[in-house]
Amino acid sequence: MGSIDTPTITENGSTQSYAAAAPADDNQRPLASSNGAQESEATKKRRTGIHPLEVGTRVMCRWRDGKYHPVKVIERRKLQSAEPSDYEYYVHYTEFNRRLDEWVKLEQLDLDSVETVVDEKVEDKVASLKMTRHQKRKIDETHVEGHEELDAASLREHEEFTKVKNIATIELGRYEIETWYFSPFPPEYNDSLKLYFCEFCLNFMKRKEQLQRHMRKCDLKHPPGDEIYRSGTLSMFEVDGKKNKVYGQNLCYLAKLFLDHKTLYYDVDLFLFYVLCECDDRGCHMVGYFSKEKHSEESYNLACILTLPPYQRKGYGKFLIAFSYELSKKEGKVGTPERPLSDLGLLSYRGYWTRVLLDILKKHKGNISIKELSDMTAIKAEDILTTLQSLELIQYRKGQHVICADPKVLDRHLKAAGRGGLEVDVSKLIWTPYKEQS
Ligand code: ACO
Ligand code: ZN
Repeated sequence: MGSIDTPTITENGSTQSYAAAAPADDNQRPLASSNGAQESEATKKRRTGIHPLEVGTRVMCRWRDGKYHPVKVIERRKLQSAEPSDYEYYVHYTEFNRRLDEWVKLEQLDLDSVETVVDEKVEDKVASLKMTRHQKRKIDETHVEGHEELDAASLREHEEFTKVKNIATIELGRYEIETWYFSPFPPEYNDSLKLYFCEFCLNFMKRKEQLQRHMRKCDLKHPPGDEIYRSGTLSMFEVDGKKNKVYGQNLCYLAKLFLDHKTLYYDVDLFLFYVLCECDDRGCHMVGYFSKEKHSEESYNLACILTLPPYQRKGYGKFLIAFSYELSKKEGKVGTPERPLSDLGLLSYRGYWTRVLLDILKKHKGNISIKELSDMTAIKAEDILTTLQSLELIQYRKGQHVICADPKVLDRHLKAAGRGGLEVDVSKLIWTPYKEQS
């Protein structure tokens, strides 16, 4: 399967550095005009005539791959120089995910390709926000926590505000990581481009020296909470958001840097956090996590999932997903992830569901129903149906969905489904469901 975002890795002293994700594919657009060294008079005139560009302008922009891609100007800021027209622009690559949004210099833009100037205020972002009821509830809760006065217009403004990334990079353990999205850190952190995280308690600081001082004092060597799984060097910790509120909040601030549509910051009490770590003699280093509501009316068994960028594409995501279903099995429930899923979330879930279901179908002799598959896997029936439908393994006969699984077709799909991810060894899971604990 091709990569829809390939982090580039560079060595940075003792710290490894992770750059933001690359675009989905190579569908490079032809240049709208020649951009040669010899600038024509007409182009020069145009340059001086149209900039600074308005927010909302659509134009072609040279990306770090050296190719031009269409962008929309999201924000602009004046540079501290003598030139009154010197601005840089925060752009969204319209073909790609928002995690690629970035500040660019004027010379990266092909001004001959300037298309339109749209009035941002006319666009109704609120209507376009596809939120689940659950997320709306969370937003409402967020309002109670200090945004009570937010009406639709202010919410739109808030959306506008979060369009520009605030923190550009973070340092966490051995890694320096470029962030993907805005995260609402407390205002005193908003003037920092980089934040330094303690990899164990997840406290964050503005300066490296503060972190160094902190590391001398911090006595944590793993996430707070109970270790509920250990297999080889992998450990999973369960952290109760109510018992470890600050840790839960820190984790949410950190996670939001890589998650676009999440609104969970204050109500960590209602969640359990499952933090996956790679352990060595220096401690247990966070690789990723998922959160889970203590009580979910919608049978969600996972709220947010994240693998930190340096650890992505190694099978940890599918491990976390598999783990969430193992917990559901222990609870005797079926589960589903909270919606909406991100592009990468959907890919990972689709890959997981496909592999798990096809493995069963391959081994199973005779007919099997969606309900039986759901009982065996804890995957919600709707997710089974959409997965098998997308693989064209479902027929509708006499008012019923029937699974039609030709072994050759199954093999082909299994091959296409990619690697299985890291296995969860259920015998190593020692866990009591939340309701029983209390
Ligand atoms: N390009 C193409 N396919 C990808 C990519 C990518 N960059 N990343 C994951 N996939 C697909 C592949 O099919 C991959 O399987 P393969 O490597 O065998 O081909 C599969 O997804 C999962 O790969 P894993 O290595 O198991 O997953 P990873 O550890 O990379 O984590 C995750 C996946 C958690 C979605 C990660 O990309 C991430 O943290 N993204 C940012 C946060 C996010 O979007 N979370 C989901 C939001 S939805 C929600 O929270 C309910
Ligand atoms: Zn610490």
